[in-house]
Amino acid sequence: MSQLGSPSSAIRPAILALRPNGIGAVSSLGLGDPSVIPLWFGETDLVTPAFIRDAAKRALDDGKTFYSGARGMPALRQAIADFYGRVLGTTPDVSRISLPGAATLALVTALQCLIEAGDNLVIVSPVWPSIFQAVTQLGGENRFVRLREDWKSQSWHLDLDELFAACTDRTKAIFIASPGNPTGWVASREEQGAILDFARRRGIAVIADEVYGTLVYSERAHAPSFLEIATSEDNLFVINGFSKAWAMTGWRIGWLVHPAVLDRSMDVMCIANNTGPTAFAQYGALAALSVEGDNFRAQMRAYCARGREVVDEWLAAQNRLRWIRPEGAFYGFLQIEGLHDSLQYASQLVHSAKVGVAPGSAFGPPHDIASDACVRICFGQDPERLREGLERLGRALP
Ligand SMILES: Cc1ncc(COP(=O)(O)O)c(C=O)c1O
Repeated sequence: MSQLGSPSSAIRPAILALRPNGIGAVSSLGLGDPSVIPLWFGETDLVTPAFIRDAAKRALDDGKTFYSGARGMPALRQAIADFYGRVLGTTPDVSRISLPGAATLALVTALQCLIEAGDNLVIVSPVWPSIFQAVTQLGGENRFVRLREDWKSQSWHLDLDELFAACTDRTKAIFIASPGNPTGWVASREEQGAILDFARRRGIAVIADEVYGTLVYSERAHAPSFLEIATSEDNLFVINGFSKAWAMTGWRIGWLVHPAVLDRSMDVMCIANNTGPTAFAQYGALAALSVEGDNFRAQMRAYCARGREVVDEWLAAQNRLRWIRPEGAFYGFLQIEGLHDSLQYASQLVHSAKVGVAPGSAFGPPHDIASDACVRICFGQDPERLREGLERLGRALP
């Protein structure tokens, strides 16, 4: 058949080659089945608090149903700047804050600023799969550097030499999510400083995904942030959003802090990508950034901390499972002795044990034996249900 006759002839091969990630593949087997305890997605079981829902409802009733500005409402952008003032003690200029849509779209927008076909992104992994799928969509290459489990010190270890050696002359940015998904690893100030110095020397960017920034199990209000050490001139893109800390995954609203030089370009990009975020959702987001929202974040942190304890207690009685106790986020990346094919195992668990977990292989690097010996659970769940989910997992070990 001629190229012209083929229905797919106009479509880029990189797009046709896309496959659902392992989380999608497994969850499709039991989505909506009430008998399955779902620990597979990156969300808690908490409904968005009423004061946020009410603010959005009021906005709808007040007719906030029109286009509302390319990069988000000025009041919301200012509230985000003030949020950083509260939690980090540093306030980025509002001109550097844009809301293209959800955090996922903020990330895609950052990548669009950086990646052309043939360029690469160096990614600290295991990692949330959408990042490498987004790079592939743009025709870029993913280069993975895996954190290593240090079981003795009970911590994840990033080898900075390995990270820097992975950068080539086609590297446009280093991607680092801290606190990390699925590891819960938190980058230290020293590590961030070394990465920023390296990026400055090489003229490459840093994409810092900080969507779990305030979900840390320490005294800090926020994990160490690149915003605390970078200037407005640095090639720094910080991704953040309302989904996780405010229980707003379905709202699809997040933000990007970007270099000052992008002020004008962002107007154009945000219009081209989404013509701004959802109008009434922004009123909910504005309410989330109030004192009431700060209180809710504290409750959310306590709720997830309780979930972390439940997993820790349960693991203490297990012989074949272990984890590096996460310092942040709400995931357990559980290593299971004897597990070699996490996708097959997680798929089988849906039917045989009625528990939904994400296969470790979904988080990369591809074909990594260490990740394939793991499953990820989200522990931001009702403690009783979480315990029951863990029990089911424990009764169905490979
Ligand atoms: C590290 C990381 N970044 C970004 C996102 C996306 O967040 P949102 O749902 O707000 O688009 C997720 C969601 O799981 C994530 O884990």
